Amino acid sequence: EAQVYTSGLHDERPPFTFNALEWEALAKARLPADSFGYVWGSAGIRETDDNNRAAFKKWGIVPSRLVRSGFPNLKTSVFGDEYDYPIAIAPVGVQKIFHRDGERAVAKVANEESVTYILSSATSTSTEDVAAANGDGPRWYQLYWPANEHNNITASLLKRAKDNGYKVLVVTLDTYILGWRPSDLNNGYNPFLRSDNIGVEIGFSDPVFQEHFQKKYGVSIKDDVSKAASEWAHIMFPGTSHGWSDIKFLQENWDGPIVLKGIQTVADAKRAVDHGVQGIVVSNHGGRQQDGGVGSLDMLPEIVDAVGTKIEILFDSGVRCGADIAKALALGAKMVLVGRPYVYGLAIGGETGVRHVLKSLLGDLQLTLHLSGIPDVTQENLNRSVLRRMSH
Ligand code: FNR
Repeated sequence: EAQVYTSGLHDERPPFTFNALEWEALAKARLPADSFGYVWGSAGIRETDDNNRAAFKKWGIVPSRLVRSGFPNLKTSVFGDEYDYPIAIAPVGVQKIFHRDGERAVAKVANEESVTYILSSATSTSTEDVAAANGDGPRWYQLYWPANEHNNITASLLKRAKDNGYKVLVVTLDTYILGWRPSDLNNGYNPFLRSDNIGVEIGFSDPVFQEHFQKKYGVSIKDDVSKAASEWAHIMFPGTSHGWSDIKFLQENWDGPIVLKGIQTVADAKRAVDHGVQGIVVSNHGGRQQDGGVGSLDMLPEIVDAVGTKIEILFDSGVRCGADIAKALALGAKMVLVGRPYVYGLAIGGETGVRHVLKSLLGDLQLTLHLSGIPDVTQENLNRSVLRRMSH
């Protein structure tokens, strides 16, 4: 493929703006206040969120001239597999609160555009239905990890993911309880306790959870759906964290690569290596969990220096445009997860909106690299030598 996205350069009109910073406002205009608050919302007074953005602005890309090259090759290799693009759809729960087509639309477009889809455990569409919509596209599975007393439920979730072609397990470590998010608190909103129950699909469709609920309460899920929703929400977000020794259970119940999402320190990155997992996502959940934190990108270089040769390092939090993706890759990430931008696209225009966002990000990335004289996204050509730390 040559250029990812050329419409807009010619007389074709885009479905909506190419300006990535305007997508949030368009989504806000279309969504109910509580759904918009859920995607936009961050923890506390949004300092972590602000720092995520500020971290990108501390770096500038310095271009090289007279580099003989065509359009950059964006292929990347992670966990021994080749991927067409170095970006992935970050796991985002309850996508049906943003558009009726929800996960199905995003998973379908991800396949069409050759972008990796990471399914959230908090999905509003079942593991099986998302796999069907995603077809032969690359897909990974994100786990919100139930407490050990519910290991049989965890095993069932993992089995469903394996049976349905999800290749990599992404275990989120920063969300054993939802963060202090004023937007949701003000709206009295918990998407997992809605009366339409769309936030609990994966639990309600799980045979082991169904059995658990029947045994505990003596009735089936459909006899008391609101109690079942709070039971499931509690299992997903138990309020207490696992410990490092619990990773073993996941390794025993998953065949492929395991990636720990939410790592922010060198010490934890080293523990991840010691515990034999294959990758980490340097992430602070887009600033939605702990406030008063550092920018996720600020932590990336030291983590790459410490463990970059021993484990695959992925990155997210605050990525909004092609240059952001380029900077994270230059600092040593193998793949970059994008969250809010595609959710805004979904809210604005369903499949069309998600496609426009993905094509925009990739087109922008490709031209940014091309105009910087960087022929591909390998560490050999895209590394710290293309960046300058700026003083402001
Ligand atoms: C998330 N995120 C998330 N992460 C996860 O592991 N499981 C999940 O179910 C969710 N759900 C979720 C919902 C919404 C509405 C958002 C915005 C985010 C976090 C997500 O995977 C990712 O870490 C951040 O979104 C990255 O930051 P940006 O790209 O949104 O700045």
